[in-house]
Amino acid sequence: MKEHIHHLLEQTVANLKSAGLLPAELEARVLVDRCKDKAHGDLATNLAMLLAKPAGKNPRELAAAIIEHLPASDLIAKVEIAGPGFINFFFNQQWLTGQVDAMVASANANVKLPTPQTVVVDYSAPNVAKEMAVHHIRSTVLGDVAARALEFLGHKVIRANHIGDWGTQFGMLIAYLEKMANEHASDMALKDLEAFYTQAKRCYDEDEAFAERARNYVVKLQGGDEYCRTMWKKLVDMTMEQNQINYDRLNVSLTNKDIMGESMYNDMLPQIVTDLKAKGLAVESEGATVVFLDEFKNKDGEPMGVIIQKSDGGFLYTTTDIACAKYRYETLGADRVMYFIDSRQHQHLMQAWTITRKAGYVPQAVPLEHHAFGMMLGKDGRPYKTRSGGTVKLVDLLNEAEERAAALLESRNSDLSAEEKANVVNAIAMGAVKYADLSKNRTTDYIFDWDMMLSFEGNTAPYLQYAYTRIQSIFRKAGVEADSLSGKVALNEDAELTLAQKLIQFSDAVNGVAERGMPHLLCTYLYELSGNFMTFYEACPINKDGVDPDVRQSRLLLCAATAKVLKLGLGVLGIHTLERM
Ligand code: ARG
Repeated sequence: MKEHIHHLLEQTVANLKSAGLLPAELEARVLVDRCKDKAHGDLATNLAMLLAKPAGKNPRELAAAIIEHLPASDLIAKVEIAGPGFINFFFNQQWLTGQVDAMVASANANVKLPTPQTVVVDYSAPNVAKEMAVHHIRSTVLGDVAARALEFLGHKVIRANHIGDWGTQFGMLIAYLEKMANEHASDMALKDLEAFYTQAKRCYDEDEAFAERARNYVVKLQGGDEYCRTMWKKLVDMTMEQNQINYDRLNVSLTNKDIMGESMYNDMLPQIVTDLKAKGLAVESEGATVVFLDEFKNKDGEPMGVIIQKSDGGFLYTTTDIACAKYRYETLGADRVMYFIDSRQHQHLMQAWTITRKAGYVPQAVPLEHHAFGMMLGKDGRPYKTRSGGTVKLVDLLNEAEERAAALLESRNSDLSAEEKANVVNAIAMGAVKYADLSKNRTTDYIFDWDMMLSFEGNTAPYLQYAYTRIQSIFRKAGVEADSLSGKVALNEDAELTLAQKLIQFSDAVNGVAERGMPHLLCTYLYELSGNFMTFYEACPINKDGVDPDVRQSRLLLCAATAKVLKLGLGVLGIHTLERM
């Protein structure tokens, strides 16, 4: 509560400054205190008296100006000037308790639902015949949380896994798949995708006949040849089958039906090039087809040329993204498209979208948003690598997370069954890895640190999961079911008020994630909520002898609201909650 008023007063000072009613250079130290006598209000500030002299104003007049410029707040019922210029605030307790009661009663914790839209979320997007590496985790989990948040708020979400399933490398991959099938007919599984790719490349480089066959297959594949299509499909399926294991393990909500790879846009590309030429946007330049963009300059300060078709007829990544944006608007009916792609592709996207807009394929009213993110770094501040400097496979990272979580659990003696344990290990391990990524502002690089992410203290998944199980154990001890609690919340203690006030900010936190594509807003919120809950739990006994039954009931309701928000919030983050751990 104090914080809230403090914040409102700081805003007010800023407002008064910009209205010219306070000198801009004035330093204002805002102090808020509890009123000794409730009849005078709940909280008071001496701000007007403090600022009156340096501002050259009468304290009571300044107090009136402050009240007049105070931003509106549902939490405040009444504001009064008292004595020489104190400002007294009366809370709107009824409103606040009503909000918490409504949260307990509603399945979605009473979040504000925006006007529903169709939103396409582009995320994960690994490449075919390559194993997912650690860096794929960023797009995968950030995008997944955006998709979940949007869905939670009632939007229609179309998940688009824009996998890299096209390009000249497929000739070589098909030729190698064929070679493998001939040599060990029964062993067609691409168990080791990395090795598969490397060996295919080696054959291509060393065996001229193989290379010839590979080049031939590229042409045939592009021409729609049935055999090549089937072989290509096998490569895609085998890769995605393996990726699906990672998705499931990570509790990422992508499935086969979300695959919309680069190949999907092939048929659109020739038409797009023709159209861009007809619109005068694309021109022939040294045999290639190029769009010159004033918005981007090359190193000589001239408009940058973006190639959309090479002289050999091949199309480019940019051409595909133009077609893709068009398809998402025209065919999928997107009102908004969110792309979770690393920041190095920013210029690529901006070029593709500038062309898309100029061609009129997607109207300005439909936002195309790049939600960029930085890299995952090791403790040494360099890109996260294996000891020998190689790329870390995602599956190895997930295995290590589970090993570490299992050891951690072993060290805390618990009486869980083996099956429960396995569940807890998965929940903690995947929660920790995902949360480490989600809780940082995505725009910067972040340091991957096992000890930090698996700690039960601090802004971590295990801490939040622990807060949740702690509430469950309060219910068990009280012998009640959280869902069947009746009665109304009453807020008397400071810690209760602070907790209630934090609870009702859940709606803003989830909406923030959906609007800005920033999961860390929800993480920070849940972390603060858990902190407020722990403080409340220390200060306000529930299961102790002598607690008034109505007070106890109200506190159990606060527990229920907190548990609900934690469960829903972690659910939006794609992190499991546990009844016991
Ligand atoms: N497959 C690409 C890569 O690994 C990412 C694709 C992102 N999505 C897009 N529409 N371009 O870099």
